[in-house]
Amino acid sequence: MTVNKLSAKQLVRAKITALGTYVPPRVLTNKDLESLVETSDEWIMARTGIRERHIAEKGVGTSDLATEAAKKALAHRGVKPTELDAIIVGTVTPDMLFPSTACLVQNKLGAQGAWGFDLSAACSAFPYSLQCGVQFIMTGAHKKVLVIGADVMSSIIDYTDRATCVIFGDGAGAVLLEPAAAEEEGIIDFIHEVDGSGGCSLNMPAGGSLNPATHETVDKKMHFVHQDGQAVFKYAVRKMADVSERILQRNGFTGKDVSCFIPHQANLRIITNTAERLGMPMERVIVNIDRFGNTTAGTIPLAMQTALEEGKLKKGGLVLLASVGAGFTVGATLMRWAY
Ligand code: UT7
Repeated sequence: MTVNKLSAKQLVRAKITALGTYVPPRVLTNKDLESLVETSDEWIMARTGIRERHIAEKGVGTSDLATEAAKKALAHRGVKPTELDAIIVGTVTPDMLFPSTACLVQNKLGAQGAWGFDLSAACSAFPYSLQCGVQFIMTGAHKKVLVIGADVMSSIIDYTDRATCVIFGDGAGAVLLEPAAAEEEGIIDFIHEVDGSGGCSLNMPAGGSLNPATHETVDKKMHFVHQDGQAVFKYAVRKMADVSERILQRNGFTGKDVSCFIPHQANLRIITNTAERLGMPMERVIVNIDRFGNTTAGTIPLAMQTALEEGKLKKGGLVLLASVGAGFTVGATLMRWAY
């Protein structure tokens, strides 16, 4: 197939046909954190909306969570791993720098026919990975793409730093992308943006080529998440609403047309601020940050699961995803829910 010769008419819309999620069983509550750092359940609830988060046991990697989520998504649709064409894993906590988590998941699933890769976009990794998968479906290159958002944030969190350890949790979610039928809209549009000048506000400074692991990098705690919380907060509040407004506007919609808004779960205050600016009642906004915290690439598929459980994802309903994350990365996706 010569992709660059395809006309708009030949492009096929993509749709999500299955979802699977997984969180490790161990729960770390705000009360538990009170014994680790100087904090309180009241402060964490009031400033973030988080009550508890799930934490992986030692020896459990992102590929393990991703594989469990993937198995559920495939079982949901009755698709065999061998039918997959590609696997895309959005993560900032790969099991190791290489091979990619996608390779590890491919092997654990037994998806011999699939190629794949990891995508690094922090909290926007799920929307970015989803859009990559969509492109393969749209061109007709692939029929079944598995898109996974998964992170074991506890592996890069300093549990003596109260500014970060209360926020993050571990989790994974996977969706299956397939071609939509001619009359279906499926995934309608996306807007992605990067502002690389924000890199200093949220990062993990060591472990890559610039600062490879040394005794010094370990002593200086450079293998943990470092965040300027207020800078990220201000950027997120502004950009989540901006990007959501723009994607709705350019498709002829307003916040009132959206039946389900699934935002990245970083802070309840960011979510409520965004919903308010979009004129969206909170009944249509998915919030599960209280139970899972910020699972980075996992939040949006985990929130999709919550939306399904709450009966808020109905076939044909207009669904908006939005995220802001380290980079800075910004993403929004508009779709009609397809099942
Ligand atoms: O998903 C990736 C993107 N990340 C985000 O979107 C995170 C965005 N940022 C945030 O969500 C918030 O900035 C935080 C939740 C990280 C922090 O909340 P904040 O209201 O911005 O707190 P702050 O950093 O301004 O700190 C206010 C006070 C400080 O004390 P002083 O200096 O006023 O005495 C902090 O030391 O709260 C203190 N503090 C805490 N107190 C109890 C900070 N963390 C804690 C804590 N428990 N865990």
